[in-house]
Amino acid sequence: MIKIAVCGAYGKMGQEVCSAVNMAEDMELAAKIDIQGEAYRTIAEANNACKIDVLIDFTQPKSIYENALYCLNNGIKIVIGTTGLKDEEIKTLKHLSENNNTGCLIAPNFSTGAVLMMKFSQMAAKYFDNAEIIELHHNQKKDAPSGTAIKTAQMMAEAKDSFKKGNCPETETIKGSRGGTSYSDIQIHSVRMPGFMASQEVIFGSSGQTFKIRHDSTDRKCYMDGVLLGVRHVYDKNDFIYGLDKILD
Ligand SMILES: NC(=O)c1ccc[n+]([C@@H]2O[C@H](COP(=O)([O-])OP(=O)(O)OC[C@H]3O[C@@H](n4cnc5c(N)ncnc54)[C@H](O)[C@@H]3O)[C@@H](O)[C@H]2O)c1
Repeated sequence: MIKIAVCGAYGKMGQEVCSAVNMAEDMELAAKIDIQGEAYRTIAEANNACKIDVLIDFTQPKSIYENALYCLNNGIKIVIGTTGLKDEEIKTLKHLSENNNTGCLIAPNFSTGAVLMMKFSQMAAKYFDNAEIIELHHNQKKDAPSGTAIKTAQMMAEAKDSFKKGNCPETETIKGSRGGTSYSDIQIHSVRMPGFMASQEVIFGSSGQTFKIRHDSTDRKCYMDGVLLGVRHVYDKNDFIYGLDKILD
């Protein structure tokens, strides 16, 4: 049995993850960690009480780096769903995971549909000169743009160095109206309002045509197969992975 701790256990994702772990035949929910509810308050406290094999983290952008450092420095394998890690921080975690031989998987999106959206966007990227991303989430999301949008842009940027070919010089009369400029000049636009859970549209354009790829998450259950796959991967392989696409067959 893989002994699991869920950090952020009382959050929207954490509660769903706890149920999924409880249903998995090869896993045991050994500890719940959260700053609220009936839970261990810190990872150290939980690990002292019941030696953790894999920690699953769905907390918040301002806690995740410290949580991951603690795990990788104390032999706890970690599956990270929390978004908001900076490039530099991801580099440091990769280094630490490899040096300490402690598995670490970071996935900005655990749903298979979203992973396919990213892969298809990467495939389409070389055929279009222009591309922009609109991501739409519920209004309790703390970070913008979403980790999925950033990862999508990174994957598309591997295919092309600029997606603003042919655009005339632009002036913003209202600051921010063109969104944020990311990798390879891909503009990312973030929408936050009730009614959405997590959606993303990637729009490609070239002379005389547009092409759209869209994914909508309507229930948090869509992430659970990916989370459990990630746990089994880090437990068996003990390596560093960024992106669920790397381990999907
Ligand atoms: N990778 C994915 O597929 C995916 C999918 C959905 C959400 N997310 C990300 O997961 C994170 C959590 O999302 P949510 O909607 O469940 O948020 P949420 O606010 O509902 O839950 C977060 C939980 O973490 C707890 N928490 C905060 N700081 C903590 C700390 N230092 N230690 C322990 N517990 C702590 C909070 O008390 C809360 O219960 C966000 O970063 C979100 O963007 C990722």
